[in-house]
Amino acid sequence: MSHPITESELQLQGFVNEPVDPRLDLFEAIRDLKVQKNAVILAHYYQDSDIQDIADYIGDSLGLAQEAARTKADMIVFAGVHFMAETAKLLNPTKKVVMPDYRAGCSLADSCPPDEFRKFREAHPDHVVISYINCTAAIKAQSDIICTSSNAVKVVQSVPEATPIIFAPDKNLGAWVAKKTGRDLLLWDGTCMVHEIFSLEKITKLKAQHPDALFIAHPECEEVVLKLADFIGSTTGMLNFTKENPARSFIVATESGILHQMAKASPTKTFIPAPPNNNCACNDCPHMKLNTLEKLYLCMKHERPEVTIDPALFDAALKPLQRMLEISK
Ligand code: 13P
Ligand code: SF4
Repeated sequence: MSHPITESELQLQGFVNEPVDPRLDLFEAIRDLKVQKNAVILAHYYQDSDIQDIADYIGDSLGLAQEAARTKADMIVFAGVHFMAETAKLLNPTKKVVMPDYRAGCSLADSCPPDEFRKFREAHPDHVVISYINCTAAIKAQSDIICTSSNAVKVVQSVPEATPIIFAPDKNLGAWVAKKTGRDLLLWDGTCMVHEIFSLEKITKLKAQHPDALFIAHPECEEVVLKLADFIGSTTGMLNFTKENPARSFIVATESGILHQMAKASPTKTFIPAPPNNNCACNDCPHMKLNTLEKLYLCMKHERPEVTIDPALFDAALKPLQRMLEISK
């Protein structure tokens, strides 16, 4: 999705917007549908806590892709954003993949329009193209290898030293990987609206107020923010760090949904969301938060909106994804 989706496109995709009886026990109804339809619910950490609690698997982008590749379910219900559900469909062409709200896109994926990216690539024909999984199937189809925030360093290191690399679409993740690997990456100028908004000034103040707290950040954050971090990693990496590190409190610079799993895993520790550079107190991704428990129920009941991939892109988009899964084994 590289443009705002229109109402008629939503109708085409079978978006269901019917009222749900408020007396219905949604948890029970969703559990029944899971059994009836042999469905699996895959959810990203940035989903609402209710969705995380009903999911069969919660993970970061790599974990979700790996889980999608190994599932035996007939229907994959993807509680995340569009590029993630597309990834699940690429890995399961014969299975039905549905998502609660088809409009759940990604500002980062949208920052890389396929036609402009083609020109960029064609201007550097000797470069290998590594694309962050947060991109559309149209960008994956123009890439040599896909990576996620948890394997980006390993993926870059898999390319011979002498080969120049284009890294797209996240320039912050790209700059962090360039620093970690010592490689000179040619970066596409894209960013995530959630991770770009953290306020250096407010984080510095918060750190002073909580001198014992560790500051942990996702590599999609800007370099100035990452410089302050005690730990940098993917959402799963950050979660594991909070489980394993003896510190009692953590300031967390990523989407606020992850705090639910952190608090569940370490109920006696304190998790403080890093403050954004606006008057809002939260770091919610507006795309991720389009999904609700009601919409999850409706999409399972009606088996739509269904995620499809343009057949002309399919093979080319799948190949770099399979290369990533091979490298990540
Ligand atoms: P990870 O799931 O790889 O940590 O990435 C976070 C993200 O921004 C997903 O949209
Ligand atoms: Fe995209 Fe950022 Fe939202 Fe992740 S948090 S889905 S990268 S806009």
